[in-house]
Amino acid sequence: MSVLRGIGKIPGQIASWLGERFELEDSVLAVLRHPVPRELERPVGWWYVFGSATLAVFVVQVATGVGLAMTYVPAPNSAYDSLQFISHDATLGAVVRGIHYFGAGAMVVLVLIHMTQVYLFGAFKFPREANWLSGSLLLLAVLAMAFTGQLLRWDQDAFWSIVVAAEQAAQAPLIGDWLAHLVVAGANVGGATLTRFYATHVFLIPAATFGLIGIHLYLVVKRGISEPPVAGVGVDRRTYRRRYEEILGRGIPFWPDAAWRDAAISAVVVVIVVVLAALIGAPALGRAPDPTVVIADPRPDWYFLGYFALLALIPPATEAIVIIGLPLLAFVFLFLVPIFWPDGERHWSRRPVAIAAVALPFIAYASLTVAGLQSPWVPLLEGANLPTSVTAGLEPQAARGAQLFTAKSCWACHQIDGSGGRKGPDLSHVAARLTRERLVARIAGGGGGMPAFAGSLAPQELDDLTTFLFTRK
Ligand code: HEC
Repeated sequence: MSVLRGIGKIPGQIASWLGERFELEDSVLAVLRHPVPRELERPVGWWYVFGSATLAVFVVQVATGVGLAMTYVPAPNSAYDSLQFISHDATLGAVVRGIHYFGAGAMVVLVLIHMTQVYLFGAFKFPREANWLSGSLLLLAVLAMAFTGQLLRWDQDAFWSIVVAAEQAAQAPLIGDWLAHLVVAGANVGGATLTRFYATHVFLIPAATFGLIGIHLYLVVKRGISEPPVAGVGVDRRTYRRRYEEILGRGIPFWPDAAWRDAAISAVVVVIVVVLAALIGAPALGRAPDPTVVIADPRPDWYFLGYFALLALIPPATEAIVIIGLPLLAFVFLFLVPIFWPDGERHWSRRPVAIAAVALPFIAYASLTVAGLQSPWVPLLEGANLPTSVTAGLEPQAARGAQLFTAKSCWACHQIDGSGGRKGPDLSHVAARLTRERLVARIAGGGGGMPAFAGSLAPQELDDLTTFLFTRK
């Protein structure tokens, strides 16, 4: 018996050994037990859990991401195969990929709920402006992770999504070409693009995210968790700090009195992610990427779908402005929020404009997402259609050739009259420098960065294409 009692004491002894060696009492434990407003014990406390839940899923993303990186090969010839191996052969590979996929969606959703709560509770106001600003940068990091992660799938859809994204980015005024070059890491989507996305996804953004989370949590502890807003009681910069001291004077320790809710919701969210991953799994991989085949469905993952639907629905002339302008506007707004409204009324019932500022974009984006889900996804790309100056008045055979020019993705690499990609030479006046025989040879044989099309064009199609290009004198 006494032996058992002796063993029972061991965990306590280990804890006190660790506590003394690492001075946990006035570091970690002090932070865990820091006082928070007493109101958090009430049901309103359930609104305060989404930051912790986001952090919990982030930890899951780091763990599963490291797991995936152990096997994934970020090279254009191997990426697709290594993902096939992860999805079908590696032990638990499919589940880990699924967790990473649903975790990414959960991060986007949780960050947005967390920011909405902070915004509607007026918790971004004095003295917590910097919490909000670091949080806005974290939102940017989460979205950038979601975007770069999708290309790493390196299947047809991923490949062509980036081609579409780059073509769209290139339309932006002034910085378009530069931006497209930055995203694609060259003139065309290829190995360099994959390497750039991989390095950005596993080194650059995570490093920035760790730093930002550090700042964000430091500020949360230092500035204290905001008390639930009371209608009619606003923030006055001269008196707020003193009033908050009083609130904390009657406060409760964060752990365990308030934090059990964070722990409970975090656990629920992680369980949901794991269950979805086990039941549904990560999206099936499409075919291996092939620049000679334009697939019709370069859909982004669901949380970006609304934005791509918007770009497809608006008149093409406005696309160049909207593509950069809208996200830019949204983020400028986020950054200006605590600078324009640092004090005054916090309660949402006294801030109808704030409610509209949340509800209207939400409804708009939800409708766009539904539109994006329903429409057979064909983005309205200028590059996907040759300008009428090229197609007008063509003989039937040449017209068929012009159609093949886009259908066979020649436009992705070649420009004609200013429309199309820039990897290959401009073909506006190709017939002036090449004979018909040279044209056929170049298309069928490829080489020097040009794919060989002999295998994927029927002789009649090759003839149509050549006839069309031969009109370009
Ligand atoms: C993946 C990008 C890519 C695709 C897709 C592509 N090309 Fe090319 N193409 C190139 C590159 C790069 C060159 C230049 C090769 C060189 O200089 O050796 C080229 C060269 C050519 C040339 C020779 C131009 C000249 O002035 O010498 C012709 C003609 C041509 N391509 C036609 C086509 C046609 C027709 C298609 C569609 C069936 C097509 N290309 C698809 C990248 C591409």
